[in-house]
Amino acid sequence: MYGLKLKYAKSSLLIVASLIAIILAFSYLPHALLAIIGGLAFILGISYAVGRNTWKQTRDIGSRPSRAAGAKPAGARPQRDERKSGGRKSRAEARASRRAEILHPEETVTLSEEREAAGIEDVFTSLDNQLVGLVPVKKKVEEIASLLLVDRVRHRFGLGAPRPNLHMCFTGDPGTGKTTVALQMADLLFRLGYLEKGHRVHAMRDDLVGEFIGHTAPKTKRTLERAMGGVLFIDEAYYLYRAGDSKDYGQECIDILLQVMENDRDKLVVILAGYKDRMDVFFESNPGMSSRIAHHLDFAPYKLDELVAIGRAMLDRSAYYLSADAEMAFREYLTLRMGQPRFANARSVRNELERTRLRHAFRLAAEPEVSRSKDDLMRLEAADILASPLFALAEPLSAIEEPARRLSR
Ligand SMILES: Nc1ncnc2c1ncn2[C@@H]1O[C@H](COP(=O)(O)OP(=O)(O)OP(=O)(O)O)[C@@H](O)[C@H]1O
Ligand SMILES: [Mg+2]
Repeated sequence: MYGLKLKYAKSSLLIVASLIAIILAFSYLPHALLAIIGGLAFILGISYAVGRNTWKQTRDIGSRPSRAAGAKPAGARPQRDERKSGGRKSRAEARASRRAEILHPEETVTLSEEREAAGIEDVFTSLDNQLVGLVPVKKKVEEIASLLLVDRVRHRFGLGAPRPNLHMCFTGDPGTGKTTVALQMADLLFRLGYLEKGHRVHAMRDDLVGEFIGHTAPKTKRTLERAMGGVLFIDEAYYLYRAGDSKDYGQECIDILLQVMENDRDKLVVILAGYKDRMDVFFESNPGMSSRIAHHLDFAPYKLDELVAIGRAMLDRSAYYLSADAEMAFREYLTLRMGQPRFANARSVRNELERTRLRHAFRLAAEPEVSRSKDDLMRLEAADILASPLFALAEPLSAIEEPARRLSR
């Protein structure tokens, strides 16, 4: 701001001084001499302008190749995105250079050191903290991590091996943790150096299949491009294929996916997800897809005790807890809810606990004059759960079912 003002003040002074000099020269100097001085000044001015332009152009050409190659002029500030990803990039570079050194055959390495160097302990801690139970899934994740870990160490000794195929299929009912595990898996594969970026792109049929001729290929390719370097998570993958519909473009998408899953498997991991029975039918109709999937992870529906534990963990994370009576009421609620349509395992638990918090807050707010302790603000009571409309709905049902059951005996 001040620099700009100074620049204009300087220019104005220069113009005024030049005008005064011209007027004085015109009055006191002979006109022939004036013409010579004017001519000289003109030639000097032109030479200066031409010289300056040439120098500028030469400098620009000199610096162009280095910018194209990604180098920045000295002192240039990093762009916002570069700054954000700088830490991750440099970590990846450090890991890459570590991997580039070939170890002497006499040297030894422990896998725990390698695990620590890759920083995968954080992923397992996060998996354990976030997800209650899911023991078989966690075991499978451990197995995949072990395979890549041993692969890393082998590479450090210069032992080459083709990269393992890591396309996967996650089957299970809604709310059993498939999406959550996919996110952790992407992070794990990145940390172990299998994926370059480790992000996850969530896609459904609509993100991949077009509705008109010529729409599907560009749509699928755009989604694949976004996912390159990370995980492409295709939810309800069986909707890609509509058996018996010859006009459907799903097959075109599947063909592109098959090609990329084969040719670019070092750049992309595809995870297909959905209900187990529908996934089985999908694989039967698409054997090419089935043969490209290396790992099947089955997410079993949660049992009542697991759902209660999941609820407890969710509340614990948000500094709430269930009183003993509330826990019993919650068990009752879940027993009823599990038999209802659209039950979504841990998601149903989360949703009901959110509603319970709402009722708890409303209960406290209904008596604004009462003093509340920290514990009052954390403790959910049976009344907060029993106020769920599910109990009211279940009563008439049991009133019908009980006499019917007695009659049938
Ligand atoms: N074992 C678990 N422990 C704690 N929370 C869980 C567990 N499984 C799932 N959740 C939570 O339940 C919610 C739903 O999980 P997620 O979206 O991963 O399920 P999903 O299998 O992908 O469901 P959908 O098939 O409906 O897409 C998330 O908030 C997740 O954190
Ligand atoms: Mg999901």
